[in-house]
Amino acid sequence: MRCHSTSLFSLLFLLLQPHFSQFYSLQNCSINFDDHSQIVCGHNKLTSVPSGLPKTATYLSVFKGFTRLDFLHLGSNYISHIEEGAFSDLSAITQIILAFNELTILTDNTFIGLSNLTSLCLHSNKIYSVSKCAFGPLKELQILDLGSNRLVQISNIINIVSHCPAIRFLDLNFNQLTSFESDLFPTPLLNLTELYLRSNPLKRFQVHCDVFPSLNELQLSGLPPDCDWDVSHRSLKSVRSLILEFGNQVNLQMYKSIFQSVDSVENVLLIQILNETLLQSCTDLTELHLKSNSVTELSECSLCMMTQLARLSIESNELSTIPTTIRNMSTLTYLSFDKNHITDLHCFDFLHLTSLSELNLNSNRISKLNSCVFKNLHNLKILKVQNNVISFQSDSFGFALTHLTKLDASGNSLGWFQKGTFKNLQSLVELDLKSDRDSVVEDGAFEGLRNLKCLIYTPSYFYIGDFSSFGQLEKLVMFLIYKPLNTRTNIDFFSDMPSLHELNVIVDKSSCFIWTLNLLKSMRNLRVLSFENYCCNIFEDNLFISIPKLLRLQYINCEDFSHGPELFEPLKDQNVLDLTNNNIQSLDILHGANLTKVEKLILQNNKLAVINEAVFEALPSLKYLDLSGNPFACNCSNAGFISWAIRNKQVQVVNAYQYRCSSPPTEEGHFLLDFNVQLCWEFTGFLCFISTSALVLVTLLSSFTYHFLRWQLVYGFYLLLAFLYDSKKRRQGCPDIYDAFVSYNVHDEDWVYGELLPELEGVQGWRLCLHHRDFQPGKPIIENITDAIYSSRKTLCVISRRYLQSEWCSREIQMASYRLFDEQKDVLILLFLEEISSNQLSPFYRMRKLVKSRTYLSWTQAQSHKGLFWENVRRALECGNEPTDNHNLLTANVY
Ligand SMILES: *[C@@H]1O[C@H](CO)[C@@H](O)[C@H](O)[C@H]1NC(C)=O
Ligand SMILES: *[C@@H]1O[C@H](CO)[C@@H](O)[C@H](O)[C@H]1NC(C)=O
Ligand SMILES: *[C@@H]1O[C@H](CO)[C@@H](O)[C@H](O)[C@H]1NC(C)=O
Ligand SMILES: *[C@@H]1O[C@H](CO)[C@@H](O)[C@H](O)[C@H]1NC(C)=O
Ligand SMILES: *[C@@H]1O[C@H](CO)[C@@H](O)[C@H](O)[C@H]1NC(C)=O
Ligand SMILES: *[C@@H]1O[C@H](CO)[C@@H](O)[C@H](O)[C@H]1NC(C)=O
Ligand SMILES: *[C@@H]1O[C@H](CO)[C@@H](O)[C@H](O)[C@H]1NC(C)=O
Ligand SMILES: *[C@@H]1O[C@H](CO)[C@@H](O)[C@H](O)[C@H]1NC(C)=O
Repeated sequence: MRCHSTSLFSLLFLLLQPHFSQFYSLQNCSINFDDHSQIVCGHNKLTSVPSGLPKTATYLSVFKGFTRLDFLHLGSNYISHIEEGAFSDLSAITQIILAFNELTILTDNTFIGLSNLTSLCLHSNKIYSVSKCAFGPLKELQILDLGSNRLVQISNIINIVSHCPAIRFLDLNFNQLTSFESDLFPTPLLNLTELYLRSNPLKRFQVHCDVFPSLNELQLSGLPPDCDWDVSHRSLKSVRSLILEFGNQVNLQMYKSIFQSVDSVENVLLIQILNETLLQSCTDLTELHLKSNSVTELSECSLCMMTQLARLSIESNELSTIPTTIRNMSTLTYLSFDKNHITDLHCFDFLHLTSLSELNLNSNRISKLNSCVFKNLHNLKILKVQNNVISFQSDSFGFALTHLTKLDASGNSLGWFQKGTFKNLQSLVELDLKSDRDSVVEDGAFEGLRNLKCLIYTPSYFYIGDFSSFGQLEKLVMFLIYKPLNTRTNIDFFSDMPSLHELNVIVDKSSCFIWTLNLLKSMRNLRVLSFENYCCNIFEDNLFISIPKLLRLQYINCEDFSHGPELFEPLKDQNVLDLTNNNIQSLDILHGANLTKVEKLILQNNKLAVINEAVFEALPSLKYLDLSGNPFACNCSNAGFISWAIRNKQVQVVNAYQYRCSSPPTEEGHFLLDFNVQLCWEFTGFLCFISTSALVLVTLLSSFTYHFLRWQLVYGFYLLLAFLYDSKKRRQGCPDIYDAFVSYNVHDEDWVYGELLPELEGVQGWRLCLHHRDFQPGKPIIENITDAIYSSRKTLCVISRRYLQSEWCSREIQMASYRLFDEQKDVLILLFLEEISSNQLSPFYRMRKLVKSRTYLSWTQAQSHKGLFWENVRRALECGNEPTDNHNLLTANVY
């Protein structure tokens, strides 16, 4: 295996990184791409709250600095127990979803730390017990959903509300509460506006004093017939909306008392059994929903007394015609017969519904729309006829529905759109004609749709209609189906669609669709292109050249994606690229393309086994990478990617901890990120090891050398300097200014001035250069020493122990001895003030050599014969430069 610099680097990186969990490598969670404050850990088979959620709930995002998380989604997992302190650092979080888990009890420790939580969803767990202080930390809680749990005792509810004075919304639907008694509430819940208690077997419902002064909506159902309804006068006076679900055994008396206690109610949702007598006390109703009542027909005047009704829905029943009782309800604005068995619409069905603005006839069995049906619906804005068996006629909209903005006719077997079908729908903005079968769309079918912004349809390959009136169209979704693979058709829209921002083309598995440059030319302002096609290798590589403003490209489900990087080249602004399920085997395509702005890259369900993480250097803006569903190879080829996925701080590798290995067979089914990359570094690494060791060795040696041989190195350096300087001098042939340069240590100054100077300058008359007396100020010290030595015939060193300890002095000796040996001039006179054994000279190896091979003058030995000593000095100073003189003179030792 090669030892390239990356792996060496990664190795060092691995060794140096402390093992803490960065946000991006957080297991089983991801950050919402569109909202960075949301952390999503839902649908992940988690059994506990993931540890390592970012401390203090902020994380460093490369792009936005510190981001505060405020939403945590832990829904749809298998969490049965929340460990103490699991949320303790998450005080910034305001919303948590824990729905669809396995929680059974909420203890005093469960929610510690969530001091800013305002919304908590615990729907569909198995909670049967709430401890006294469990909700203690949640002082700010406003919204609590405890629906579909197993609460029996009202005391659990008291434990909640006594800590949460700000609560606005409390959902207790589908529990097993047997009683609800306001007397037990320690304080009124001033802000409670919605209370849901449906499907609880309440034996007793008691509200006395004004405990819920703001309660607006109350949901109740499944009350047993013997339920003790005990609500004192006006204690539910603010309730406007009452949703009641009648059980099979109706206690009319009880329901009457219910209606009486909520006298100002405006909306009632009555589910299941409808009893007209009951409704007679509610003539003020504005909204009535009769859902799932198995109603097959309504009597002629069953709703006549409801003169205020604005919204009526009779959904999921068994009506086969529109009941006549609604014909005169001119106050209705909303009417729904969703999910009935209506087969035919008649001309008088909606005769007087002149205020109606929304009509929902979804999921019936209607086959024809006669134009007379809508004749009086002058204010209709929204018409829904989804999932019927309608086929339009040319005159279906013969009457001008001049306010209709939205027509949803998807899921019908439409078949054929003739010229002028929609010509009266001038205000139409959204038109959904998606169908399981393709429809022939004649040219001119869309005539008149001048305001259309969104069109969804399933045209036949050969008749897609003409788009000449679509100057305003912003979104176009085409489903193309049923075309034999071997015939190829080019579709061209020709018409200019300057407003078109989003185009989705979904091509059936059995079909091929060929794009042409022409087609996209008419859409030059396209921002979003989603394209699902079985055969995609037959397009030109410069296909996108005319849509440079594209931001999001989804290019999926392609059998054989074999485009080069040129395909993406024109898309300079694109920031989302989705290449899901294209059988892509290598990421090389990302290399050459200039995808500098891509932030989100989805490569799900491809054939990527090995990822070379270096590819992502070509995507400098990348934040979000999804590689789920690829057949990863868990071998060393992915080692670099694995450590990158865990450690990089810019790119969130979504669900990385769930990626599994497909090869080699020994690793199959294991998690990719569990693969031990350390082994790879060991393999990779013999060379790496060697080079690293060599590096370490050199470093060690250098520091060793530096520590122990420092002075030798320094001397070497100055010797070199001396050599250079000397050659210069020799060339110049400077005359000597002094007879001798006297080198001594300050501590020996007394001797120099007291003994040496008077004798040599005074008596013998030599010109001496003294360190302190004669150096020119302003010259660098080494230069001024060198100068001094070279301007003197001789160098007289006054040697003492201190002198040897001073580096400057030693350097002077070095310089002079250099002259002695290399210039063959004996310039050095050594005058020993103290007895110094040759051992003590050892560090000054060159001088030691000198002393060993030459004799020298010794002051200690000369004390008694001073005259002779000075005479020897005079002779030493006197002699010339000739090398031949050296021997004699220096051997003139004094004893
Ligand atoms: C993440 O999920 C895996 C299974 O998908 C599980 O084994 C692991 O314990 C989870 N990690 C945490 C921190 O819950
Ligand atoms: C909690 O909310 C308050 C008020 O909104 C805010 O000032 C404080 O910073 C929040 N605490 C944290 C930890 O975010
Ligand atoms: C009730 O709501 C109001 C306004 O929304 C707020 O000012 C007040 O603090 C809330 N009451 C409690 C007890 O939180
Ligand atoms: C409606 O109430 C009346 C009077 O109490 C009763 O006779 C009738 O059977 C009820 N109808 C239904 C459908 O329960
Ligand atoms: C509707 O009103 C007309 C008169 O305006 C009346 O003749 C007819 O009986 C009413 N139909 C219903 C079902 O109330
Ligand atoms: C890539 O795009 C940037 C700006 O988006 C541009 O400056 C650069 O020249 C482009 N590089 C190539 C190779 O096209
Ligand atoms: C890892 O596996 C892939 C795919 O099976 C293979 O191409 C590659 O050579 C393997 N690398 C090593 C180091 O074994
Ligand atoms: C020359 O050497 C002497 C003695 O060390 C020193 O005082 C003087 O400052 C030096 N001159 C320069 C220029 O360093």
